[in-house]
Amino acid sequence: MEFKNYINGKWVDGRSKFQTINPATEEMLAEIAQADNSDVEAAVSAATQAFKSWRLVPAPLRGELLFKIADILKQRKEELARLLTQDMGKVISEARGDVQEAIDMAYYMGGEGRRMLGYTAPVEMPDKFGMAVRDPAGVVGLITPWNFPIAVPSWKIFPALVAGDTVIWKPSPETPAISAAFTKVFEEAGLPPGVFNLLLAPGAEVAKALVSHPGVRVLSFTGSTGTGRAIAESAAKLNKKLSLEMGGKNAIIVLDDADIDLVTDATLWAAFGTTGQRCTAASRLIVQKGIAGKVTECLVERTKTLKLGNGLEESVQIGPVINKSALERIQRYVEIGRKEGARVLTGASVADVNGKGFFYTPTLFDGVRPGSTLEAEEIFGPVLSIIEVDSFEEAVEVNNRSQYGLSTSIFTQDVNRAFAAMRDIFSGLVYINHGTTGAEIQFPFGGVRGTGNGHREAGQAALEVFTEWKSIYVDYSGRLQRAQIDNREEEM
Ligand code: UN1
Repeated sequence: MEFKNYINGKWVDGRSKFQTINPATEEMLAEIAQADNSDVEAAVSAATQAFKSWRLVPAPLRGELLFKIADILKQRKEELARLLTQDMGKVISEARGDVQEAIDMAYYMGGEGRRMLGYTAPVEMPDKFGMAVRDPAGVVGLITPWNFPIAVPSWKIFPALVAGDTVIWKPSPETPAISAAFTKVFEEAGLPPGVFNLLLAPGAEVAKALVSHPGVRVLSFTGSTGTGRAIAESAAKLNKKLSLEMGGKNAIIVLDDADIDLVTDATLWAAFGTTGQRCTAASRLIVQKGIAGKVTECLVERTKTLKLGNGLEESVQIGPVINKSALERIQRYVEIGRKEGARVLTGASVADVNGKGFFYTPTLFDGVRPGSTLEAEEIFGPVLSIIEVDSFEEAVEVNNRSQYGLSTSIFTQDVNRAFAAMRDIFSGLVYINHGTTGAEIQFPFGGVRGTGNGHREAGQAALEVFTEWKSIYVDYSGRLQRAQIDNREEEM
C-alpha cells in the first residue's frame, strides 16, 4: 500500500518516503510520502485561500457535509477498522469503536450547523440592539496521537469544519495509513479544495513548522505533556489560541462496600483495554483496606487469562503496544517499580506471541506507595498499580494529589459517598460504578492540572476552541448615544 499527503484537494508526493509497520507482526503495512516544510507552506496557503469562501458557506450546509461524511464512515466502518488495527494494533472490536466515535461526532457536529448558538441580551440604551455570535477562527492546525487515530482527530476536525475554519491535520507518524484513509472520506464527501489538508511526516519538523506558522491561528494538540508544553511555548510567541490534551494518571477508587465482580470486570477493561494506551486508561487502583485482598485476588486471577495477540483475531483481548520504544519504556517503569519496593503480582515481562510484535504482559503491582514514580508518572501501557488506603477521604486525597487530572472513577453502593465523590474529586471526568474510560462525544472531554490548559474537546465546549466570539451592537436611534454616560445624567 502507498499513501500520500493531501493538500489543496490533491494527493501529493513527498521528496522522500517513510514506512508504517504493523505492531502485531512487525511487517511493513504501507509506504508513505513524507511531507516537509514546503508542504506546510503549501497547506497554509491553500487553507488560507479556502477560508475566504468556506467561512461564507452557510453553517447548515457545512453541517450537511458532515452528515455525508458520517454516512460514508458508516459504510466503511469495517474496512477502516481493519486498517486501523493493522496500523496501530488495537483489537478489532475497539477499532470499530474508534470509527464509531467519529461517526457519532460527525452527526453531532453536523447538527451544530443549525445550532451553534450565540445570544442576545438587553442593552442599556433605547433603540439599540446587542448580540454575540460565533465567528470562525481561521486556519487551524491539528496535531493528534496514534492511540485513537480516528476518534481523537474527529473531535477536532468536525467542530472546526462546522465552525467554518479550514484545517491542516498532522497525525502521528505511527498511523499514517489510517489517517490517509480517513482523509479519503473527506475527499469523497466533496469538501472544497484547501478546506482540509493532511500532512504526513515522522519527527517533529513538520509539526514545529505548523505550530510556528503565523498563518495558523488555532492549534489543538493531543499527546504527551512534554510536547504539549513545547507547543505552548512556541504558540505563545504568536498569541495563538491553543487547546492541549495531555497526560493522565487515572484512578479507580474502590470502597469497602463495592461490588467485587463489577470492580473486576471494569478494572480489567479500563486498565488493559487498548493495551493501557488510552489517555483515560486506569493506571492506579486506590482500594480501601477491607476489600483490597479480595479485589487483588480476583484481578490477578483474571489478568492471567487475558489473551494477547493480533487484534484482527476476534478472540484476542490485548493487542501489541505501538512500537519497540514503548516496550522499552514500559519495561523501564516496571524496573523502577520493583526498585521502589512495589510487588509484582503478575506480568512484568515482554511477551512472546509467535516470536513477532511488540507485546507486553498485563501487569499488576501492589504495595505501591503514593508519591512513588510508579504511582505518579504516566506509563501508557498495561500496568496497574494497586494502592491501599484506609478511608474514602484518603482515597480522594491520593487521587487529587496527582500531577494529572483527567479521569477518576469510584465504586461504592453508598449514594451519599457517590455524591461526595462527584463533588470532591478534582478531575475533568468522573465515573460512578464504571471504569475510567468510555467518554461519549456529547459531553466535554478534558482534564485539570497537568492534563490540559483549561480547554475542553467534544460537546458544546469544542466550539469554544474553534470559534471566536464577536459582540455586535446595532444603534437604530439615529443619534449619538454614549454607553455608561448619557443615561446617567440624572445622577449628577
Ligand atoms: C484518548 O485516550 O485519547 O473515553 C481518548 C475514552 C474514549 C476516548 C479516549 N472515548 O476512553
